[in-house]
Amino acid sequence: MKLDQLHIQHLRNIDDATLEFDHTNIFVGPNGQGKTTILEAIFLLAFTKSLRTTREKEAIQYQKPQAMVWGQVMDGDYQTEYQIILKPDAKTTSINKDEINKISDYVGHVPVVLFSPDDLELIKGEPGVRRRFFDLDVGQTNKYYLQELMMYRQLLKRRNDQLRQGKANDDYMMILTERLALYGEQIVEKRYEFIDQLIPFVQEIHAILSDQKELITIEYHPKYQGTLFQDLNEKYGMDLQTQSTSIGPHRDDFEIQMNGKDISKFGSQGQQRTVVLSMKLGLAKYIESIKNTPPLLLLDDVFSELDKTRMNALLQVLPSNTQTFITTTTLEVVDASKQANASIYYVDAGKVTKQ
Ligand SMILES: Nc1ncnc2c1ncn2[C@@H]1O[C@H](COP(=O)(O)OP(=O)(O)O)[C@@H](O)[C@H]1O
Ligand SMILES: [Mg+2]
Repeated sequence: MKLDQLHIQHLRNIDDATLEFDHTNIFVGPNGQGKTTILEAIFLLAFTKSLRTTREKEAIQYQKPQAMVWGQVMDGDYQTEYQIILKPDAKTTSINKDEINKISDYVGHVPVVLFSPDDLELIKGEPGVRRRFFDLDVGQTNKYYLQELMMYRQLLKRRNDQLRQGKANDDYMMILTERLALYGEQIVEKRYEFIDQLIPFVQEIHAILSDQKELITIEYHPKYQGTLFQDLNEKYGMDLQTQSTSIGPHRDDFEIQMNGKDISKFGSQGQQRTVVLSMKLGLAKYIESIKNTPPLLLLDDVFSELDKTRMNALLQVLPSNTQTFITTTTLEVVDASKQANASIYYVDAGKVTKQ
C-alpha cells in the first residue's frame, strides 16, 4: 500500500500543500514548522482523528472555516482517493468522492502505525492513553468494534444525562442499561481477541530485542464480576451520587507486564522504551498479517530518541515494502541507508519543498 499524493489545506500552519510521496519520505526542519502536521494529515486521513491528544477541530487553521486533507492511495493496481474535511462542528469523509456517513465504513482502509516521542505514555500515562491506543488499533482492524464503540458512547452519554438529572432506575433506565451492557460486553470481548492476536507478534519482536530474556504479556481485566448488566444495576445508587457510570469498558485499563510484573512499576526507563517499540512493531506486523499489506509508518521525531540498538532493530524488523514517513530536526540522526533512497522535504513555516 502506498500513499502517492497528499493535498493539505488549512491544517494548522500549512495553508496549502500538494505533496508527492516516495517509499521513504523524510521531513526536515526546525521545531514548529509543520513537520508533525504533515503526519497529522496522514493520520487524519486514516483515522479521522488527530495524532495529538487534542480535538480534531483545533487543527483547523486559525481564521479558516475548514481544513481539508485529500490523499491518493495505490494498493497494487487499485487507486483510491480518500478525503476528510474538518469543520468546527462536523467532519465529512469520502472515498472516491462518495461521501461515507459511517466512520466505521471509512476507517481501516489505510492502515497506519505511528511512532512518537509520546509513546512512553502508553506505559506511564493515564488509563485513557492506553484505551485510546486500543480503541484506535482495534478499530482499524475490526470495523464492528468501531460501530459498537460508537453505539456504546452514545448510550453512555444518554445514561449519564439521566443520572445527572437524578432519574430513578425506572423501565427506561433499565432498557438503556441493558443496551449499554450489551455493547459494552461486545467491546470487552473484541479487546480480548485483539490482545490474543497481537501478543504473539509483540513477543516475537521483544524476544529479539531483549535477547530472549523478557516475556511481554498484556493483562486486561474488565471491572465487572458477574454480567455488566447486573453490576451496572448494583452500582446504580453510587452512580446516581457521582452522576456518572462507574464501570464498563470506558473505565477499563490494561497492564503491560514483563516476566509477569507490571512494567510501569518495575521496568527501567530503557526496558519501558523497548517494550513500547516492541508493541508498535508487533502491531505493524499484526496489521500486515491481516491486511496483507504493511501499514504506513509514521515516525515522528523518534530517531533522536532511540539509541543505536533500538534504531537498528526498528530498521531491521520493518519489512522493506513498508512506506515510511519520518520527521526530524536534523538529517544527521537518520541512518544513512535510510536516507539513500529517500525523498527529502524541507519544511519551513508551513511551506514544504522537495529537495
Ligand atoms: N490551528 C492552528 N492554526 C494555525 N497554526 C497552528 C494551529 N495549531 C498549531 N499551529 C502552529 O502550527 C505549527 C505546527 O507545527 P508542528 O507541525 O507541530 O511543527 P514541527 O513538527 O515541525 O515541530 C506550530 O508552529 C503551531 O504554533
Ligand atoms: Mg513535531
